[in-house]
Amino acid sequence: MSVHAHVFKGLEGVYVIDSAICLIDTEKGALYYAGYDVRELVEKSSFEEVAFLLLHQRLPTKSELEEFTSRLRASLNLESKHIETLRKHADNKDTLTMLAMLMVLEGGGKKGGDPGDLEAAINAIAKMGSFFSTIIRIRSGGDYVPPRKDLSFAENILYMMNGGEYRREYVEILDDLLILHAEHGVPASTFASLVTASTLSDLYSSIAAGILTLKGPLHGGASEASYAQALRIGSAERVPQWVESMLAEKKKIMGFGHRVYKIYDPRATVVKELIAKHAATMDSEAKKLYEITQALEDYGQKVLAPRGIYPNIDLWTPILYRMIGVPPDSFTAFFAVSRIAGWAAHILEYWRDNKLIRPLHLYVGEQPRKYLPLELREGS
Ligand code: SDX
Repeated sequence: MSVHAHVFKGLEGVYVIDSAICLIDTEKGALYYAGYDVRELVEKSSFEEVAFLLLHQRLPTKSELEEFTSRLRASLNLESKHIETLRKHADNKDTLTMLAMLMVLEGGGKKGGDPGDLEAAINAIAKMGSFFSTIIRIRSGGDYVPPRKDLSFAENILYMMNGGEYRREYVEILDDLLILHAEHGVPASTFASLVTASTLSDLYSSIAAGILTLKGPLHGGASEASYAQALRIGSAERVPQWVESMLAEKKKIMGFGHRVYKIYDPRATVVKELIAKHAATMDSEAKKLYEITQALEDYGQKVLAPRGIYPNIDLWTPILYRMIGVPPDSFTAFFAVSRIAGWAAHILEYWRDNKLIRPLHLYVGEQPRKYLPLELREGS
């Protein structure tokens, strides 16, 4: 055993791939997709164009964007096999498990390893959107509503989720949230997708690995945990005492902290600007949630910022999700609807020069020893 062996717990600080897909500038507090500032993409682009950008690491021409958009929209359509499976499992409240199951079924038997498999990538991205919106639709007692040819991806998600109608002012919020969550380097979920893809398993199974990894409250599950946290706190006045008691018990504040950002998450800034822009559509619950979240941010930063622990995107997104009607048990599932673009982009990029991901472990157990028959063991 090499005496120089060192375990990097949680792979903290370890570079596992080189990639041209995203840059997280932790000094400036900025995020770039293939060189484009995510703030500018939120302002000027669309989820369809950002998905193309992530998959190709360049912006599309006009005709490429039209072709990509129509392929994506065509793949939104669900077949009866999908709808029967959705209906059969409608009472399963774990939306991410449903999405992972449907994704694996969608890819049944396909082969992995083709870096040019755009067909699968586009189909997976679209199906994640229609599975998500149809699960919510069926859960609310409705039935599948097919997408419309004249609607954008974001419009169709709302349209299919709400049984054939949607509020126009929610489209911008949803499209901006889709752009903001689309890609973030190699967080646990993307790494899980890459580990699976590196074995040449198929793209859909690799995506399913990402979905099930995103679920945890230390990762994408934090948005749902942060919402439940705000409801538990109950009022802005209770925040200081609540934060102090959590820290005294060494518990984590959901929506705070990040493995990469040791500053304020730039995406949270954009989410807050979106909330401010659409404040007029906030109902009383959203307003109360806002007050609690702002108090939590103010007090939380006071006590945690000196340790490099700042608010992250998941502290603020629950307010926007509630505003556009995403049910609280599906906030993280919405994250997956967006992040599948990043997962697919990383999988195809990695397959260009695939290498099985198989790290080592530092053995700290017993030295080799002889087997002891049962009757000779202590206490026998
Ligand atoms: C996402 O990686 C990505 O890019 C992910 C993501 C993406 O887009 O894919 O950005 C999305 O997952 C955002 C993060 C959402 N998760 C949460 O909000 C959950 C709460 N956050 C923490 O669990 C934590 O901050 C992590 C998991 C996000 C990061 O933790 P690390 O890097 O593993 O650090 P750690 O848990 O070892 O903490 C170091 C210290 C500890 O104290 P000590 O033991 O040294 O005394 O900081 C403390 C921790 O207790 N700490 C916190 C805290 N986060 C860290 N203390 C209180 N509340 C917190 N939120």
